[in-house]
Amino acid sequence: MGTLIIDGGKKLYGSVRVHGAKNSALPILAACVLTDGECVLEDCPALRDVEATGRILSRLGAEVRRDGDTLAVRAGDVVRQDIPDAQMREMRSSVTFLGALAARCGYAEVSRPGGCELGARPIDLHLAGLRALGAEITESGGRICCRADNMRGADVTLAFPSVGATENIMLAATAAKGRTRIFNPAREPEIVDLQDFLCALGADVRGAGGMTVEIEGGRPLHGARHRVIPDRIVAATYMAAVAAAGGAVLVENARPEQVSAVSAVLREAGADVCEQGSVIQVSAARRLAAVRPIKTQPYPGFPTDAQSIMMSVMATARGATMFVENIFESRYRHAGELMRMGADIRAEGRVALVQGVERLFGAEVHATDLRGGAGLVVAALGAEGRTRIGGTEHIERGYFGLEESLRSLGADISRE
Ligand code: EPZ
Repeated sequence: MGTLIIDGGKKLYGSVRVHGAKNSALPILAACVLTDGECVLEDCPALRDVEATGRILSRLGAEVRRDGDTLAVRAGDVVRQDIPDAQMREMRSSVTFLGALAARCGYAEVSRPGGCELGARPIDLHLAGLRALGAEITESGGRICCRADNMRGADVTLAFPSVGATENIMLAATAAKGRTRIFNPAREPEIVDLQDFLCALGADVRGAGGMTVEIEGGRPLHGARHRVIPDRIVAATYMAAVAAAGGAVLVENARPEQVSAVSAVLREAGADVCEQGSVIQVSAARRLAAVRPIKTQPYPGFPTDAQSIMMSVMATARGATMFVENIFESRYRHAGELMRMGADIRAEGRVALVQGVERLFGAEVHATDLRGGAGLVVAALGAEGRTRIGGTEHIERGYFGLEESLRSLGADISRE
């Protein structure tokens, strides 16, 4: 278990590049199973979760080669259709292999996925969607078996626009003969990126980002080269870091429209956020002010993945900010850690009230999950004194080279 040591209070200046999106790369890697052609993914950084997905692919029989940020995958022969429990537990997105293997092999055997502990994270919508396509799914002894040699396109209406369920159904539907329509799909940019990749493979998928995704299944697929979209939550994290610590930073390789909910909150708080092409300039010259309630919502609403980092910003704003977490039932574990640094937070159920204090102080804290850990980094950058953040393996799941990037901006950050 690693520890980050941050001596806070240094303003941040310079420019930083946003790497490819974890939450795009993971389902796209699962989608590589759909074809025996070579898939080359650019800007696919060696994050912990990406590497773990590479190991799942290798075990299934795929060749996986990394060259810097480029990952090449060729699933020429898929020799296994099962994923062991230990690999399934490594991350939530492992469940996307259910749809991918069902499409490629007509059979898949997995167990319930792991991932950050954010409360109950059922997969009922995934299973109902695959069943609607004709998959026969049984569950016993902790294993989920999916027999899917006769899938047919169908209409699927999601009760909630689940990101993972939308992805799983999209993958399975590429093999289901006929037309599948997913109503009320997730509209996150990562869904659009998955559609773009599937189309590059030769699939007929349209509508991602809108209210219905349509897939005409059963087309022959081939290999493709694809560049993963920039990670909007990594971009938001650097933006929040500047807001918390002060300074002026150019966040490069970003898609400003994909972080507009975050930019709007930072502007409301008094930070300057300017966008030009793929660059977002953020500067904060004075203490920020509290904002109207921040309510997490499916895209294009305020992202749940940016809730913790924004809480760290609001912890020292003038006035009180209310947070309402609408996506996950238990996503305030970082609040207790922030309170060790002097934050004034009352969290109950889905609501947290953050009363801004003049400053936070360095303390010993622990990352309990990926974004909660990123939130602690943001808080520590603006705090007075030394913060030691344990549990950095959570942070490494989704941030590549965070330390080096922050150091290049002037942060005093090292690893133990
Ligand atoms: C994805 O998780 C992301 N993970 C999460 O990022 C992100 O927070 C989340 O989408 C929301 O944007 C990946 O892409 C790998 P959901 P996912 O299915 O797919 C309920 C990070 O830090 N639900 O949209 O698991 C569920 O319990 C991670 O990078 C069901 O009830 O999210 C939750 O309350 C954390 N039944 C809500 O929907 C289901 O079958 C949203 O889940 C599926 C989901």
